Amino acid sequence: MMFVEETIEKYEKYLNPSVARLFRFMGLASVEAKAEGWIITDSDGREFIDCLGGYGMFCLGHRHPKVVEAVKGALDTIPMCGEILFNRPMADLAERLAEITPGNLQYSFFVNSGTEAVEGALKIARLATGRKKYIAAQNAFHGKTYGSLTATGRDLFRKPFEPLLQNFTHVEFGNIASLEVAMDTDTAAVILEPIQGEGGIIVPTDGYLTAVRALCDKYGVLLIADEVQTGIGRTGKWFGVDHEGVTPDIMALAKALGGGIMPIGSFTATPEVWAGLIESPFLHTSTFGGNQMACVAGLATLKVIEEEDLLNRGAVSGAYLKKGLEEIQKDYPLVIKEVRGRGMMIGIELTKEGAGGMLMSLMIDSNILIAYTLNNPKVIRMEPSLIMPIEVIDQVLEAFRKAIQQTNAVIEEL
Ligand SMILES: Cc1ncc(COP(=O)(O)O)c(C=O)c1O
Repeated sequence: MMFVEETIEKYEKYLNPSVARLFRFMGLASVEAKAEGWIITDSDGREFIDCLGGYGMFCLGHRHPKVVEAVKGALDTIPMCGEILFNRPMADLAERLAEITPGNLQYSFFVNSGTEAVEGALKIARLATGRKKYIAAQNAFHGKTYGSLTATGRDLFRKPFEPLLQNFTHVEFGNIASLEVAMDTDTAAVILEPIQGEGGIIVPTDGYLTAVRALCDKYGVLLIADEVQTGIGRTGKWFGVDHEGVTPDIMALAKALGGGIMPIGSFTATPEVWAGLIESPFLHTSTFGGNQMACVAGLATLKVIEEEDLLNRGAVSGAYLKKGLEEIQKDYPLVIKEVRGRGMMIGIELTKEGAGGMLMSLMIDSNILIAYTLNNPKVIRMEPSLIMPIEVIDQVLEAFRKAIQQTNAVIEEL
């Protein structure tokens, strides 16, 4: 216990006392000690089922042995690139991304996080078009560095840092008419998440992305798909855009690309879009980006997804989990408004904002980790690993039903 108290004190003194208070309030007075598969074990040996999946990072669960082995191999040979000789894992990973991304997406640049992937995508869109304007969606989440924060559609995060980048318009997600009103021949790019993640797991109606693609083509505007959260199998296909067969001009990836072992992100684009970087390749650089440990992790991750049939498994398990949650919703409409999502990316919209914290705490009491979405605290998200077995999903559903039952009793008393 000393160890836990000491850790919390260090958070209070050296990191952020508000974060420490929030964790305590949620019943999270635990220090993580190790993790494997879908289980995180704390320093007292208590085991939690990880249903949050590192906000979408743990598609393969924790410490997948094949990714661990690949990274150990790089550690023993060349972990970080010398920056001047050719880097084979980076070349291999760029080739694999060209193979699995749709259409003629071909060239990649590697970075270390989602927000950096978005920054690169925004820069290259301006470089390729010479145009100045961008369109993003209300409620979108693209990261918190200045460029991606400008694209992010939530005032809480944006206001304290204004003025942000110029010439950004935010339109209603899913509304094609408002997109057309905002778009013109000065627009460089539209940036969208195929499913809004932090916005509350918002799945657009079928045909929306196709219509966005057609509109972009009409005005010569580039389409940036921010697949940082939806990409690499999370929705039951390689990418969120694959559900509509849409090819963006630029795709941003991160989170699950490193297999939950290494931080890595990328932006990938068509040869036409890449032309400016080919002419002047040092317009965008990164010291750590594309290091060997990260790239071998990425390569191993893509291989594991294929070898273990994880796209199908994620689609099937996700449908099972969603159906189970929908059954709970039918029984408790006073607590749950709606269940939505695709594959292992599921949002549970509650009727009352305050219920989210209570539910989280109750689930933690049952040793299950879930959280709400950053831009929409009314929505609890479940993003388990694609490898989570059905028996474990059953355990999660049972605990969730109990937690909802208790929340329902509290709401009824109000
Ligand atoms: C769609 C999307 N884009 C970008 C980001 C930012 O990624 P990172 O936290 O790695 O900077 C996130 C993070 O949640 C995201 O969900």
